Amino acid sequence: MAYYQAMGSIPPKRHTQHRRPAGRGKQGELYYEELMGEEGFSSDSSLLYHRNIPSTIAGAREWTPGDLSTVPNHPLQPRHLKLHDLFAAKDVKTTDVVTGRRLVLGNGDVRISYVVAGAPSPWYRNGVGDECVYVERGRARVETVFGAFDVAEGDYLVIPRATTHRWIPRRSTKDPLRAYAIEANSHISPPKRYLSKYGQLLEHAPYCERDLRPPQGPLLAEDVGEKASDEAEVYIKHRGNGPGGIGGTVHELPFHPLDVVGWDGCLYPYAFNVADFEPITGRVHQPPPVHQVFEGWNFVICNFVPRKVDYHPLAIPVPYYHSNVDSDEIMFYVDGDYEARKGSGIGKGSVTVHPGGHAHGPQPGASEASIGAEAFDELAVMVDTFRPLDLGEAGRAVDDGQYAGSWNRGRS
Ligand SMILES: [Fe+2]
Repeated sequence: MAYYQAMGSIPPKRHTQHRRPAGRGKQGELYYEELMGEEGFSSDSSLLYHRNIPSTIAGAREWTPGDLSTVPNHPLQPRHLKLHDLFAAKDVKTTDVVTGRRLVLGNGDVRISYVVAGAPSPWYRNGVGDECVYVERGRARVETVFGAFDVAEGDYLVIPRATTHRWIPRRSTKDPLRAYAIEANSHISPPKRYLSKYGQLLEHAPYCERDLRPPQGPLLAEDVGEKASDEAEVYIKHRGNGPGGIGGTVHELPFHPLDVVGWDGCLYPYAFNVADFEPITGRVHQPPPVHQVFEGWNFVICNFVPRKVDYHPLAIPVPYYHSNVDSDEIMFYVDGDYEARKGSGIGKGSVTVHPGGHAHGPQPGASEASIGAEAFDELAVMVDTFRPLDLGEAGRAVDDGQYAGSWNRGRS
């Protein structure tokens, strides 16, 4: 994020001595300053002050971060993937957000995974890129070295590359935690066109800094009822030779990862709730870029939120058919009725894949049926990628196999 935050104990001048409280007649031991920065030293960064040397490792072993194999979408077809069929209720208690997520779709720029989780995750660090995790249902506490978040339905949590954190689902909610994880091989940020040259969100942006929640921090081991001396394991996803160029390693730490007494800077995780996205509407149909919320390298993230629809007297509120020839378009249907997909079998928890090279649009009858509608009560999260997406293990497991024929129904 482009705007500055400071939390906890930091010295008045960067790169100068910062010490623990002094003992009797003795000066306190130095804290260990770590700069976490993007693009070498040439983009956003933060300075974190640790109790322990941040490069300390007591041991390392290999970790396989799930089945990351993919197959091409070939023969080319639009697809309907039913994510709610992926996890059996009996398995949720023992599934966590990090090791339990299953790969739905992926390419060399981004991976989309899904998980229904009831167990706390291990400590985790994604060294490949930023993550944007959308909470479909349920609640969780997410503890990071920058501080903690309480996340709930509709929250996006954007977690910068290499941030050590863990997910702790709240068990007391009626819905289990359902999370849709968008993992970039790059950084994820608000759309550039909504930012001033110095990084402030502009007036025409559909959200602003007040809508973004920074971590509540700093957060130390004792703040979560644990000991600073507790040993820990950190599961690291990193560049490697596994499927998708991903590798996994577990680092053993001889101390608790929550050891940051203070930090400041412009790089940190933040949360944003989709209900704070102010939709941009018009007299005639507005193109999908008005729904954009974030972007990464070679992909964008958009959301379709409940909104008033097109108000020209002859408007057709559902979209026109479109060939966005450079993109694969992945829609995750979260809530409400999705007008353009009526009669297609799409429901909550569905994902559609509309690949580049094939036009798509409303199912038969949906355009006529939408005329006169004043508002759409729908909620969907869309990822558009500029390189084709391949099907992951989870995507292959819940492909309904019927969707490609849904525009052909009722024809004689
Ligand atoms: Fe589309």
